[in-house]
Amino acid sequence: MITGAGKGIGASTAMKFAEEGAVVELCDVDVASGNRTTESIRNAGGKASFTETDVTDERSVASWVNEVIDRNGRIDVLFNNAGISAVGRIDEIDRDTWDRVMSVNLTGVYLMCKHVLPIMMNQRKGSVINMSSSVAELGLLRRAAYAATKGAILSMTKSMQVDYAPYNIRINALLPGTIFTPFVQDYLRRSYKRDIDSAIGELKKRQLADSLGDPEDVAWAAVYLASDESKYVMGTGLIVDGGTTCGKPF
Ligand SMILES: NC(=O)c1ccc[n+]([C@@H]2O[C@H](COP(=O)([O-])OP(=O)(O)OC[C@H]3O[C@@H](n4cnc5c(N)ncnc54)[C@H](O)[C@@H]3O)[C@@H](O)[C@H]2O)c1
Repeated sequence: MITGAGKGIGASTAMKFAEEGAVVELCDVDVASGNRTTESIRNAGGKASFTETDVTDERSVASWVNEVIDRNGRIDVLFNNAGISAVGRIDEIDRDTWDRVMSVNLTGVYLMCKHVLPIMMNQRKGSVINMSSSVAELGLLRRAAYAATKGAILSMTKSMQVDYAPYNIRINALLPGTIFTPFVQDYLRRSYKRDIDSAIGELKKRQLADSLGDPEDVAWAAVYLASDESKYVMGTGLIVDGGTTCGKPF
């Protein structure tokens, strides 16, 4: 199950999982993009279904989980990917924006886990991947509200791992750097007044790699965390950030 799978990292991961032979269940609030990604997977010979689901709405989440169980009988992997951005200092972020970013980025993960984990506990097997961010590890200009959600996800992942290890369930987080997706394009539009190329140049100064990340860079990390190849990786945050958190070359 992949949340927010219509676009960006979620879409890329859905395609990668399908190529690896998974039966992929996608959800998104954006029906058009969810259907598009599902069609692409099917056209390439993969198995995928899309269900319109808002991760902030418990009834919507519960109904999607029931549908997935009816179709497949089990849930091996949950990738809590859906997320939104919030740009501004704390004194600039209004209460509605604060509540919305908490709701999608954090409560959405709670609700998905609440409904999927009992199934994985019965199976005595499962892998949960929670989408954090490299901003959980370092300060970034005008991102405090967003960073609060991603730091919380990383902490939550570690304590969840302690709770669910006895059920043979692994819980890990992903910490991407700047991945060029619609999410980042929106951030660039709202944060930089200049043309997109100079904005990308500014972003590249934060990292050691010479280009921004591709959604596939994160998708491969998700495939690894989902698979038994990562069976000894538990309660960790896997950083995929082109060296952003590593340091500066000067
Ligand atoms: N792109 C980056 O540089 C970057 C870096 C670090 C972390 N992340 C995280 O990765 C995740 C995906 O980011 P992306 O760049 O692919 O974003 P994106 O905006 O391209 O895609 C996110 C998808 O989530 C969906 N979504 C939003 N709210 C939803 C809801 N309530 N219920 C279900 N689906 C919902 C959107 O419709 C969209 O299709 C986010 O959690 C983001 O915080 C992104």
